[in-house]
Amino acid sequence: MIVGVMGAMPEEIDPLLKRLENVRKHEVADNTYYTALYGSLDLVVAYSKIGKVFSALTAATMIERFGVRKMLFSGVAGAIHPDLGIGDLVAATKLCQHDLDITAFGHPYGYVPEGKVYLEADPHLLGIADEVARTKGVKLRHGIVATGDQFVADPRRKEWIGRTFQADALEMEGAAVAVVCDAMDVPFFILRAISDAADMDAGFDFDTFLHTSSAKSADFIFSMLDVLDQAQ
Ligand code: ADE
Repeated sequence: MIVGVMGAMPEEIDPLLKRLENVRKHEVADNTYYTALYGSLDLVVAYSKIGKVFSALTAATMIERFGVRKMLFSGVAGAIHPDLGIGDLVAATKLCQHDLDITAFGHPYGYVPEGKVYLEADPHLLGIADEVARTKGVKLRHGIVATGDQFVADPRRKEWIGRTFQADALEMEGAAVAVVCDAMDVPFFILRAISDAADMDAGFDFDTFLHTSSAKSADFIFSMLDVLDQAQ
């Protein structure tokens, strides 16, 4: 099975690449894709660059050019839910675009005609994540993840996103990957480890915790790859 593993930033995928052997590099559409065998799995790994457009391009390229049939995303997020602390893991059950706004035409936030406000992650992959969390003895929270082309460092914006979408965490790529995978019938799973609380300290906290939280997320994704490999 060909499995895609994406991040947005080098820091999010470096911990994964470090654990792979005989990695090959491919340059496509101004980005670098890494392929490697992991047990019975054919992996395609890449960081997209930050934001919805770059992450949609990477997801579509992985599916169309590399034949990816399951998509996993590993990275960091800002917390909305007060119970979420730095390093906590959130598995997205549903994702939405908090910056998509044609409310001037009477539509709800996050909606455009023929689209969906919420995209649902694959229940089977969520089940594998629960199994991994149990085996590793780590806490995994299921939650709604809101995506937008903004680094949120403002308690009022964060509160609005939480209230409008019942979102637990926010980031800048998940829903874009979800839209592409949903349209192309590729099951997807988006994992985020908290790096900040999307508040006034978010910029500082993000820089401080990017590496450790990225590593936590990548380590969890690696364990999911082990389960997928053994299930083959
Ligand atoms: N990813 C991690 N923290 C974030 C924040 N505060 N805003 C947007 N994306 C993020």
